[in-house]
Amino acid sequence: MEDRIITEEELPEDQFVGNIRPDSIDEYIGQTEVKENLNIYIKAAKMREEPLDHVLLYGPPGLGKTTLAFIIAHEMGSNIKTASGPAIEKSGDLAAVLSSLEPGDVLFIDEIHRIPRFVEEILYSAMEDFTLDIIVGNDSSSRNIKIDLPPFTLVGATTRAGDLTGPLRDRFGIIDKLKYYTQEELQQIAKRTAKVLGVTIEDDAALELARRSRGTPRIANRLLKRVRDFALVMGNGVIDLEITKLALDKLKVDSLGLDETDYNLLKSIIDKFNGGPVGIEAIAASIGEEQTTIEDVYEPYLLQTGLLKRTNRGRMVTDKAYRHLGIPLDK
Ligand code: ADE
Repeated sequence: MEDRIITEEELPEDQFVGNIRPDSIDEYIGQTEVKENLNIYIKAAKMREEPLDHVLLYGPPGLGKTTLAFIIAHEMGSNIKTASGPAIEKSGDLAAVLSSLEPGDVLFIDEIHRIPRFVEEILYSAMEDFTLDIIVGNDSSSRNIKIDLPPFTLVGATTRAGDLTGPLRDRFGIIDKLKYYTQEELQQIAKRTAKVLGVTIEDDAALELARRSRGTPRIANRLLKRVRDFALVMGNGVIDLEITKLALDKLKVDSLGLDETDYNLLKSIIDKFNGGPVGIEAIAASIGEEQTTIEDVYEPYLLQTGLLKRTNRGRMVTDKAYRHLGIPLDK
């Protein structure tokens, strides 16, 4: 995948100097239902003096799953330990993480669907009875050992809830889907982040930025940083509508937040497959991308904005996409 300013994937530059991540649930903008429900469960767990039930957060990248995990820990007054699915390759990797937990800790596992199946099984008893069941020794003399773990809360995050096995999914008491943010929510987030960064952004500028951020706070914050640079060098440091439009045009992010990769994808379905329906494999081959990258990264936003639709015969470009790309509909 090439570098895109509007990628939802986390990039090194997303680690801001100064903390722009909200610490408390009250500061977190959007995902209202998820937030309200979590707030109740957290309060109840605290009243019972028990750890919160295990939480699974799923949805497209960049919508705040990690942020929410940190907020959960903060609100519970707990420490958080973090791990990532792809880094857990052997049973020992997971056993090491689990045996380092202290009572009440939150364990955050990002991309939990990427833990290998045979390793994942260790999580079952860890989540259910707070015991670590492992086999030690080699083939000729191996034995099972059981180690008690302190009560803890697992917060798992995944972009693909469907890739989780049934037994793992069933062990989460709380399962929440994060949705794309509305423009108003993203506008508020841009204003909040600007304040944290000590820069002034005008309301209409924040709305323009929000419109082009693909419903994704991570993108809004990344674009804000770049627009801030344009405002400083080409203006007086204040982010107004004019400088925002200029900067976003220079970054080749269009009025719906699409970039050249999105254009390529839509145009290739139009030019090579007459607008579809066409199978995902054929699209992947024609634009030279992995099928899963298209499914996880490019497609969700195109589906959400109604530029692309899924049918049982494959993907189809919609009339809205033809209009947006300025291509006449008579095919
Ligand atoms: N920064 C990134 N995501 C945010 C959110 N949901 N609320 C507030 N600030 C954010």
